[in-house]
Amino acid sequence: MLILGIETSCDETGVALYDSDRGIVAHEVYSQVEIHAEYGGVVPELASRDHIRKTLPLIRQTLAAASVALTDLDAIAYTAGPGLVGALLVGTSVARSLAFALDVPALPVHHMEGHLLSPLLDDNPAPMPFLALLVSGGHTMLVDVRGIGQYTILGESLDDAAGEAFDKAAKMLGLGYPGGPAIERLAEEGKPGRFRFPRPMTNRPGLDFSFSGLKTFTLNTVEAHRNEPGAGADIAHAFVDAVVDTFVIKCTRALKQTGLKALVVSGGVSANKQLRAGLATMADKLGVTVHYPRFEFCTDNGAMIAYAGYCRLQGGAGAPLGYNVRARWPIDELAAPDPIDR
Ligand code: KG4
Ligand code: ZN
Repeated sequence: MLILGIETSCDETGVALYDSDRGIVAHEVYSQVEIHAEYGGVVPELASRDHIRKTLPLIRQTLAAASVALTDLDAIAYTAGPGLVGALLVGTSVARSLAFALDVPALPVHHMEGHLLSPLLDDNPAPMPFLALLVSGGHTMLVDVRGIGQYTILGESLDDAAGEAFDKAAKMLGLGYPGGPAIERLAEEGKPGRFRFPRPMTNRPGLDFSFSGLKTFTLNTVEAHRNEPGAGADIAHAFVDAVVDTFVIKCTRALKQTGLKALVVSGGVSANKQLRAGLATMADKLGVTVHYPRFEFCTDNGAMIAYAGYCRLQGGAGAPLGYNVRARWPIDELAAPDPIDR
């Protein structure tokens, strides 16, 4: 079975082909980072317009890379939410029109389910059930995963998402957008121990997160040490330490609480080296395994959408005739694929 995946929820146009026998056979991502960089964040209208320009050429390129014709496709999966509505509508319209013309199913996919399942594209996938830590630019969540569509949110951010905190801290430090990779690099040059940032919400029970206090703390520290050489790198180091520690504390708590033995980490922030090192030490101590998507599938891409579409189709999910895109869409509203849907 050959599935085309189309991702247009934010500032990356992603297209990929998933073959049920061979895995991902082609994937292409066009990032709009340069378009949004001068504004310091994503401008929704510019994002939609660029998806319009890039989606069809990227589909052609992906099909050509795998030497596949449109008529070889068995289904088309597309991101239906959560995300920017205008951007989502581009991928949705293209996917559904193509699917209608080819008379194949069009499968709406939840973007965060795509992230959540993306580590399963690995040669050595995590065994279900597992705990998922989803850390992207828009979401921060701990999810108890029992099967496809069987998700219980154990905790989530009450304010900023982890990636958003990275982006905002980077802006305060005068670094470019997106901030995550820039902070990661600067933190490597910083001295440990010069600053200590708070570990938000770790000294009370529960699995929720909050990053807005950390943002204010970062701003105050940047202002107080503005003219000191090397302060930026030391601040980045302390910021990353605080974020990593917070995740280690909350993941440890969630793993003990659920008894789960595998942790899956995905979304843009899962690319972070310091986070990976912190979680590796934690996993050794607890005797659990940690699983990540392939590096290029940490940030937004079409592969995770094609794969999530495949998992749903496999489970017997139908392809609804009507369609809708959703800016907000809690992942625990998803259900296991229901063959009656068909
Ligand atoms: O999953 P993603 O590509 O898009 C959303 O669904 O939001 O995540 C993008 C986020 C951005 O906030 C970016 O700064 C962050 O992921 N990010 C990182 C790293 N690479 C990307 N954060 C920390 N360290 C990184 N290496
Ligand atoms: Zn994402």
